[in-house]
Amino acid sequence: MAELKVTAIKDGTVIDHIPAGKGLKVIEILHLNRPNGGALLLASNVRSGKLGRKDIVKVEGRFLSEEEVNKIALIAPTATVNIVRDYGVSEKFKVEVPDEITGILHCANPNCVSNHEHTVSRFHVVSREPLKVRCHYCERTMEGDEILRNL
Ligand code: CTP
Repeated sequence: MAELKVTAIKDGTVIDHIPAGKGLKVIEILHLNRPNGGALLLASNVRSGKLGRKDIVKVEGRFLSEEEVNKIALIAPTATVNIVRDYGVSEKFKVEVPDEITGILHCANPNCVSNHEHTVSRFHVVSREPLKVRCHYCERTMEGDEILRNL
């Protein structure tokens, strides 16, 4: 176990290799700060061999599914997710950009219905490398910095 700065957890989910500074955003996107009985741990700006600096988020008592965690792929494409059971890592996976992105990104088109009505934003992923998405409602496409600015 490489990272000893934050206590090991008994059961739950560890989201590791998050780009430094993005841990809070990960907590927000996945709604991990709701009281649910288990502890929520955030380590920010921790030294990492692979990334230089990274954030780590640990949620005790919850096992997040790949589908749930893939929501963070736009802000934390390097993240790895570890499901911990009885102190051991029982599953490990990398986040992947899903086929569809809902409720995270805002459409850059100011006239898009998703920016006005109480509509949850929805995008289809057109390409992953480089990332390009198309709004389900107005068909506006976004890529690169434009995506980051609208997160
Ligand atoms: N972890 C934890 N509690 C445990 C077991 C592991 O919090 N009971 C955390 C570790 O601190 C680490 C992550 O889960 O941040 C993955 O653990 P492990 O696979 O043992 O570490 P590495 O081999 O360093 O992982 P990787 O190869 O993904 O960097």
